[in-house]
Amino acid sequence: MNRKEWLRSSGALLAGGLSVFSAGFVPREKSIKEIKRDITSTRVFISDADYARIAPQNLQARLSANENPFGPSEAAKEAFIGAMGESNRYSFGGLRDLGMKILEHEGLERENLLMSAGSSPILTAGAVYYGQAGGNIVTGDPSYSDMPSKIEEFGTEVRWVPLTSEYKVDLKAMEAKVDENTKMVYVCNPNNPTATMVDSEELRSFCKRVSKKATVFVDEAYIEFQDDMDSKTMMGLIKEGHDVIVARTFSKLYGFAGLRVGYMASTKENIEKFEPYTRGAMSISGPAAAAAGVTYLEPDYMKMVRARIVESKEHLYATLKKEGYEYVPSDANFVIFPINMDTKRFMQEMWKRGVGIRTWEFDNKNWCRISIGEMHEMETFAKAFHQIS
Ligand SMILES: Cc1ncc(COP(=O)(O)O)c(C=O)c1O
Repeated sequence: MNRKEWLRSSGALLAGGLSVFSAGFVPREKSIKEIKRDITSTRVFISDADYARIAPQNLQARLSANENPFGPSEAAKEAFIGAMGESNRYSFGGLRDLGMKILEHEGLERENLLMSAGSSPILTAGAVYYGQAGGNIVTGDPSYSDMPSKIEEFGTEVRWVPLTSEYKVDLKAMEAKVDENTKMVYVCNPNNPTATMVDSEELRSFCKRVSKKATVFVDEAYIEFQDDMDSKTMMGLIKEGHDVIVARTFSKLYGFAGLRVGYMASTKENIEKFEPYTRGAMSISGPAAAAAGVTYLEPDYMKMVRARIVESKEHLYATLKKEGYEYVPSDANFVIFPINMDTKRFMQEMWKRGVGIRTWEFDNKNWCRISIGEMHEMETFAKAFHQIS
């Protein structure tokens, strides 16, 4: 039981007296968010029934987690297998090689990089640091809420700023929310769940101005889907010494969601703030580090993934148009669009037809988010969608 659940259950005890132990007591059904929190926790294993609710059986189209459907590159797989034989040793060498490649490409120093098993542990470290730092943090809404919602659980104020009418992160409105107590501003770019990107020059000048008042954390989990990612990243600001954090993951374009490699780049001061709350590179396995080292910026593989994502995305756009639906043009490997059905029912109807999706409710509308899959998965979605739309 985590702190929040304990508080909730002890609150229920106080409110309901001992009657909660009577024969009629029915435990509250967990929300999907709570089940996900449990399954990613190191302490709790979820029940079969809960597992079925977040991982429906017999999925023919897994379009729910923004994964790369094509798998890691052949070179990554070979490197992984090759490194297995040395897995009895701590993999200092492999980790160092990976780190040096990233630093060399970004023109940064060792003190600027913190690697981890995916970027989630970085976000968790940020939650622990900023959750305890007091003041407030500013973020978009809806955006990737992993770190902000954990910060809120610490009792620290989170200023949720609605997106623009184009469903982009509203930099102007966010800047207006920054005050002398703001410790951090989180910008997810491209934004999850809307897959929109803000203009890079606007974001760059936003970062330069706002970072004088608070740390700007730019989550670039999906930036690799951009052909010209190096001109769109905020990495360059770190070299210039701005108070900016950039987080990256191998989970998306590189197809490492299950392998777990990620990193953050920032000033020495920010790296030192996060470091105490994560095991850093030592949580990455040797084979995963070796695989990441060979696939990092692997040009043919990146080109292939981007092209196939565009191909499947065009198919999805055509399906939505044919069924008379609007969608938000996507800068990543997922697409969000408004639906005319209750979100829970829509998700269940899709599951029944073997299609895993995610839903949201914001801006007085119900939304479906589709992660881009292989072509046959997009065809399965199209068939199911035609039946229920
Ligand atoms: C915006 C964003 N940041 C970070 C993550 C965390 O990914 P991982 O821990 O697999 O690196 C995700 C995962 O979906 C994401 O969408």
